[in-house]
Amino acid sequence: MQSYKFSDHGWRGRWIAWRNGVLSSPAFQRFASRFALTRPVARRRARALFDLVAGFTYSQILAACIEVKLLELLADGPLDTETVAARCMLPTHGARCLLRAGAALGLIQPLGTHWALGADGAALLGNRGIAEMVAHHHLLYTDLADPVALLRRGGGGGALSDLWRYAESPGSGDPAAVTAYSALMAASQPLVAAQAIDSYKFHRHRRLLDVGGGEGAFVATVGARVPALDLGLFDLPAVCARAHVRLDQAGMSGRVTLHGGNFLVDALPRGFDVITLIRVLHDHDDGAAMVLLRAIHAALPPGGTLFIAEPMAQTPGAQPAGDAYFGFYLLAMGSGRPRSPDQIRAMLRDAGFARSRLLNTSVPLTARAIVATR
Ligand SMILES: C[S@@+](CC[C@H](N)C(=O)[O-])C[C@H]1O[C@@H](n2cnc3c(N)ncnc32)[C@H](O)[C@@H]1O
Repeated sequence: MQSYKFSDHGWRGRWIAWRNGVLSSPAFQRFASRFALTRPVARRRARALFDLVAGFTYSQILAACIEVKLLELLADGPLDTETVAARCMLPTHGARCLLRAGAALGLIQPLGTHWALGADGAALLGNRGIAEMVAHHHLLYTDLADPVALLRRGGGGGALSDLWRYAESPGSGDPAAVTAYSALMAASQPLVAAQAIDSYKFHRHRRLLDVGGGEGAFVATVGARVPALDLGLFDLPAVCARAHVRLDQAGMSGRVTLHGGNFLVDALPRGFDVITLIRVLHDHDDGAAMVLLRAIHAALPPGGTLFIAEPMAQTPGAQPAGDAYFGFYLLAMGSGRPRSPDQIRAMLRDAGFARSRLLNTSVPLTARAIVATR
């Protein structure tokens, strides 16, 4: 084991050593919180640090709001505490505690003697995918109860990896797990689909194949936006069966060809000039991800396009999402990792793609996009 000194890292290392020494000193902290010029910064930093310490409580307050359908209830109009208690089946004290906490977090707001939906609560209600994500977080929460054990065992082995196991051993797909996971993906898909479609001109293409397309939410959205596109979807057979039902309900089944198979083993269908991978690559370890990228390269014609959209690591301003949240989420899942755009582009080069570029998406926190040419 080699140990380094701060001074081995030049001026930046020395600056970090000095800054950390100052910020961790109780005397400086006391001074900064009292001195008028440093007080606002000290308060901001204290608040950010407190949020980091208390974040799991905030998440559980949100989970409670969603479980008792408090936000939906308040969307119909302001209510008093007693009514909320009765409708959410909580004792009055519990309802008051939840309402106050929700108000502190911006989900709810007091309105005279009543409670109304807060600004963040309203934004959340407009996005069913977030509520679905929060609702299934109890699995991740269980897995994170002992984060060091999770790190030491190298990921997986918990509740979230059980949900995902159908994709790891495609032959033995447990229908309940396929249903739960596919439904979650379909509900959270609009978050990503809109951004993916806005970031790239899909009307340049004639035939699109969505690989790992789940229940077909993305092909349905892109198909509605570009009516001339001929559409295909590739996923595990059990998931394709669900896609068939869903696309049929949406009146799209006649427009989408379904291809059931395992992309780590089976050849992908040819004849499509654009292949999309929406939230698929990051689910796989490097070896499997390279198998998939090479299979796509083989299936595309010369000049064909691969479009990738997913949350990525090292996203400026969104590192807590890409590196912290998705980093631990995928660790708990026991497969894959969030990758930076540079890492994905290097893998694309290794798979034989001639060029690739990063596209702009409106909310890089939930998805970034890369387009590559064969
Ligand atoms: C994270 S989900 C994304 C689904 C969809 N693209 C979306 O954004 O909602 C990953 C998808 O890849 C599929 N998948 C995973 N491993 C697969 C494999 N070996 N062969 C085919 N599909 C696979 C899963 O069944 C699932 O539908």
